[in-house]
Amino acid sequence: MSEPVLKVENINVYHGSIHAIKGISFEVYEGEIVTLIGANGAGKSTTLNTVSGLLHPATGSVSFLGESLAKIPPHKIVERGLAQVPEGRRVFAQMTVQENLEMGAYTQGDDIEGDLEKVYGLFPRLKERMRQTAGTLSGGEQRLKTA
Ligand SMILES: Nc1ncnc2c1ncn2[C@@H]1O[C@H](COP(=O)(O)OP(=O)(O)OP(=O)(O)O)[C@@H](O)[C@H]1O
Ligand SMILES: [Mg+2]
Repeated sequence: MSEPVLKVENINVYHGSIHAIKGISFEVYEGEIVTLIGANGAGKSTTLNTVSGLLHPATGSVSFLGESLAKIPPHKIVERGLAQVPEGRRVFAQMTVQENLEMGAYTQGDDIEGDLEKVYGLFPRLKERMRQTAGTLSGGEQRLKTA
């Protein structure tokens, strides 16, 4: 079998004195959909935030496409193609609708006009509100962006 795209090996992660992740290992291969299932507080978000480089494991390792992510900052991990889509609304409330969409295209460079038009075609409500701050959208409108 080929190498995994993502490899998490025996990570231990702490929030201060709380030992949130105790020795988790898993691999994700190309084309696979892998689901983490667990009770509230089991450590799913902590695991994903560790993979994204927002938290650092005390021991163990995370590698993406064969490269250790230990010393790579979160924005560089995104540039390598490993992105996290947060749950809930999670819009940047003080930024406009258009700026929120531009943040979503962070790795695409400047040439995103076509993609923006496509998104506005799917969600005309957002086009009407493109210059409005995202925090002033209704709850359902905020979720349109991440739907
Ligand atoms: N910033 C933090 N500071 C202190 N403890 C934290 C912090 N974030 C998470 N924890 C604790 O770490 C443990 C794992 O939390 P985590 O958010 O990873 O769980 P989860 O599986 O995503 O839960 P849920 O299903 O409720 O989203 C919990 O005991 C939680 O209280
Ligand atoms: Mg969670």
